[in-house]
Amino acid sequence: MSTPSTRQILVTSALPYANGSLHLGHLLEAIQTDIWVRFQNVRGNHCLYVCADDAHGTAIMLKAEQLGISPEQLIDQVRAEHLRDYGDFLVHFDNFHSTHSEENRYFSELIYRRLRENGHIASRDIQQLFDPEKQLFLADRYIIGTCPRCKSEDQYGDNCEVCGATYSPAELIKPRSALSGATPVEKTSTHYFFTLPAFKNLLEQWVHGGQLQSQVSNKLNEWLEVGLQEWDISRDAPYFGFEIPDAPGKYFYVWLDAPIGYMASFQNYCEREGVDFERYWARDSSAELYHFIGKDIINFHGLFWPAMLDSAGFRKPSSIFVHGFLTVNGTKMSKSRGTFITARTYLDHTRPEYLRYYFAAKLGNNVDDIDLNLEDFAQRVNSDLVGKVINIASRSAKFITKGNDGMLSTSIANTELWQQAVTAGELIAGHYEQREFSRAMREIIALADATNEYFDSQQPWALAKQPGREQDVIDVCSLCINLFKAIMSYLQPVLPETAASAAAFLNAPLDWSPTVQPLLNHRIEKFKPMMSRLDTDTLDKMVESQRLALEVEASGHPKASPGEPLADEIEFEDFARLDLRVAQIIAAEDVEGADKLLRLTLDLGGETRQVLAGIKSAYRADELVGRMTIMIANLKPRKMRFGISEGMVLAAGPGGKDIWLLSPDAGAVAGMRVK
Ligand code: MSP
Ligand code: ZN
Repeated sequence: MSTPSTRQILVTSALPYANGSLHLGHLLEAIQTDIWVRFQNVRGNHCLYVCADDAHGTAIMLKAEQLGISPEQLIDQVRAEHLRDYGDFLVHFDNFHSTHSEENRYFSELIYRRLRENGHIASRDIQQLFDPEKQLFLADRYIIGTCPRCKSEDQYGDNCEVCGATYSPAELIKPRSALSGATPVEKTSTHYFFTLPAFKNLLEQWVHGGQLQSQVSNKLNEWLEVGLQEWDISRDAPYFGFEIPDAPGKYFYVWLDAPIGYMASFQNYCEREGVDFERYWARDSSAELYHFIGKDIINFHGLFWPAMLDSAGFRKPSSIFVHGFLTVNGTKMSKSRGTFITARTYLDHTRPEYLRYYFAAKLGNNVDDIDLNLEDFAQRVNSDLVGKVINIASRSAKFITKGNDGMLSTSIANTELWQQAVTAGELIAGHYEQREFSRAMREIIALADATNEYFDSQQPWALAKQPGREQDVIDVCSLCINLFKAIMSYLQPVLPETAASAAAFLNAPLDWSPTVQPLLNHRIEKFKPMMSRLDTDTLDKMVESQRLALEVEASGHPKASPGEPLADEIEFEDFARLDLRVAQIIAAEDVEGADKLLRLTLDLGGETRQVLAGIKSAYRADELVGRMTIMIANLKPRKMRFGISEGMVLAAGPGGKDIWLLSPDAGAVAGMRVK
């Protein structure tokens, strides 16, 4: 439990929409938040991290419809996927909930009722474009038409991408619904508004209170100066969300109940863990509350949210922490440019900690965009983490293990250097606290440089050959091991997995405090590699596989893969020499020790063959039995590492999960010759 002086901190990341996969931009935010939360906890504060999926709105309703499932099914599926992605990136939530939850309904209604009681809800009729075919009101982005100024066709919503004109969607020439193609009609409906202008004074104080990043308070101040507008918080049915109390057929706009989802997720945590919700959310709470968000959603968190909280009698956030956008190789993440990378594609190819480190090395406490340059990424990880940090342990441990049976010295060889590392720890902690992660990483790597320089200057490998200098070798290397321990302690929020391996190797917990004592006369374990190099080849493969995945998604069929040139032309006779047969798979099993192979028994209409096929990434053994395939029946048997393979099966696809055999009902008979 925490002592009275420990800070009680509640932290959130923005709630990702439940209509699609997470991409590396979402992970930038989650990783930034997770590092900060881990840092707080490592340093002895009590810091909780909650999040949820943002499950409401038109986009989710339409997506579910398109997939032929219910919105509830869609959000359940997406939630499971999101949780797995975050978990695999080592992002640890104390709770991950959903805005489509009872807790959220409760708080949304409660807050709405309080706003209404306080006179902060207005209602009036507005005119909107309506799709007569789909029977729903169309948000601007669902209307297409010809630009009234330059006459360019197919312009979306309220601005022209060609000439830059802005207009109301009703001014578009020949407007049509992007959903049905129908011509929209104007229709009147009653909407509910949150009276934001009533909070001018409150927001002025909040904006100039000194707790916000200067770029953020400048932006908010601009909006204050332009003048606050009432905020439309209702949407008409059909809508996937919560119905507004006493307003049948009217729903809360997704952005009304989304931030309330922070409270709902925390309430769900409190029920489970027996924590007092009020302690964090009451107006006079002494706990700290921070929302990590991207720069595109500052208005919701910096204006509407504090005003709503205030009117409803809750505390305001201590601050909002805003970050910029992730770009890949210098361009906006775009599906068409091949710079869009999902969390899963990344995870399929390489380690999460590499990216956690790279993000940390680039993040400051400003809203500037962050570029993931793939070449720089590999170079940075290899040079800093593998080449500098881990290298300290691998080169020092050898001498301790061999020369002293794993025992560290009884004293510190260079107390100044050790003290320097301890002092740096406090400076580094200050950088983390301020979310100046790039500064923290710079200090940490400087410490690794100093350690490696010390090692090189002492030349333990040369000393080891000089009789009588054995103890010096152990002393030098023991200090380096202790410096490694300090460095890994400071990297722990960024590299939790490697930090755990380091603690196991050191046979001692990591420790980050100004009073930390060195490990003396202490046995360490034999060094095992903790991190391998990241090669650019792996990243190229990642980009390529993302490209293919997006193509499959867009068209249902992958396009031919360019870059793989066609083989030399062959004669018809060459082809005729191949005996291609339809074969039935009568048995299939895993091959022990081989993670890509399946052992297939193929029936050729009387004869059987054993074939080792590299298709395990696409099929489970049990789902193959009974299926037909085409095989090269006259291929000379080949001895492979896992046994003899008598032929080859033909399949199509880029690999991975996408490999296709013949369908089971192809109407082919085993043994039939393919012509
Ligand atoms: N559902 C809303 C947030 C509700 S919070 C009460 C939303 N969802 S989102 O999925 O579009 O974005 C979630 C978070 O990811 C936002 O903070 C957003 O800024 C961030 N990012 C989305 N794309 C991003 C990048 N390319 N780069 C960095 N962050 C980005 O908005
Ligand atoms: Zn135009």
